[in-house]
Amino acid sequence: MLDKLYRQTLLGIADNSAVQHFAKTQGWKLGVKRFVAGEDLEEALPALREIEAEGKYPILDLLGEFVDTEAGAADMTEKVLATLDRLESTSLNRYMSVKPTQLGLGIGFELGLENAKRVVERAQEIDAKICFDMENYPFVDDTLKLYKTLENAGYENVSTVLQSYLRRSMDDLKDLLELEPKPSLRIVKGAYKESEEVAFQDKDKVDALFKDMVFMGLENGAHINVATHDETIIATVKDFIRSMNIPKEQYEFQLLYGVKPKLQQTLLDEGHLVRIYVPYGEDWYGYFSRRLAERPANLMFVVRGILG
Ligand code: FDA
Repeated sequence: MLDKLYRQTLLGIADNSAVQHFAKTQGWKLGVKRFVAGEDLEEALPALREIEAEGKYPILDLLGEFVDTEAGAADMTEKVLATLDRLESTSLNRYMSVKPTQLGLGIGFELGLENAKRVVERAQEIDAKICFDMENYPFVDDTLKLYKTLENAGYENVSTVLQSYLRRSMDDLKDLLELEPKPSLRIVKGAYKESEEVAFQDKDKVDALFKDMVFMGLENGAHINVATHDETIIATVKDFIRSMNIPKEQYEFQLLYGVKPKLQQTLLDEGHLVRIYVPYGEDWYGYFSRRLAERPANLMFVVRGILG
């Protein structure tokens, strides 16, 4: 109950324009670098190399969201393409997460699709994977439509995300499981401030659905990216994987850069594939405030940053 109150309050405060202005002018002093690998790709590359040296794999995320002009969407698309070009010149594993509104999905479906196709095609040329992140509720329908359109068009390097806090997600999962080939899906709890009308507010319900969605996806042959730091859920998922003999190629654990490094190591030591979501870029505010909202103790990084 208190967790929920903290989360809703923090996300509410983060929307305030004065708070945004303060945070953006204070920049990295606020402790952003714990969760964001750099303000540009070159600055982030050492973190990616370290992840691989440790035996994990990176997911690169160019920060930026809710682009509301065509020119802005074109610019972000070029930046994602440039990131893929740069990845090609490295020996790093090639996997990017992209927010559909970065590519213009919030302006219009066709614009988002056109830009997404360019990204997915370029990714295919260099054997890279693209995951379309799930943003807040107004974009769920179009994000799923975008994913299904690309899957049906034969692109095999795409995946998307379902949020277990949404009342609709179990139905969306059942619908996606009809696809052939079977989908690749990341299951998360959900990071945005959503109303009771569309999202369960009760943690136990959200956690139970998370597990049910992972189990249903795995049982029905989907590739499931289990994206959580919740050790109780992870233990239950590991039991399920063991008892159902789920092959290693069918799942992976995904965690956020800077969160629970010991858990990352334990999963790795146990022989699971572990992928770390690594954000970089100047537009860190929205991402950073969602990370603060997930754990009250994270506010201490901000306080320490301000106090120097
Ligand atoms: P929960 O919040 O219950 O936390 C479980 C444990 O982990 C607690 O002990 C908690 O303190 C700790 N923890 C959680 N977050 C932490 C943090 N930031 N810092 C320190 N400790 C933390 N969401 C979304 O809506 N769309 C998306 O596309 C994605 N994509 C995505 C990719 C990946 C790889 C991950 C791991 C997560 C996402 N998310 C997301 C975010 C997700 O919805 C959720 O907000 C966070 O993962 C936090 O929830 P947990 O599942 O970790 O559980």
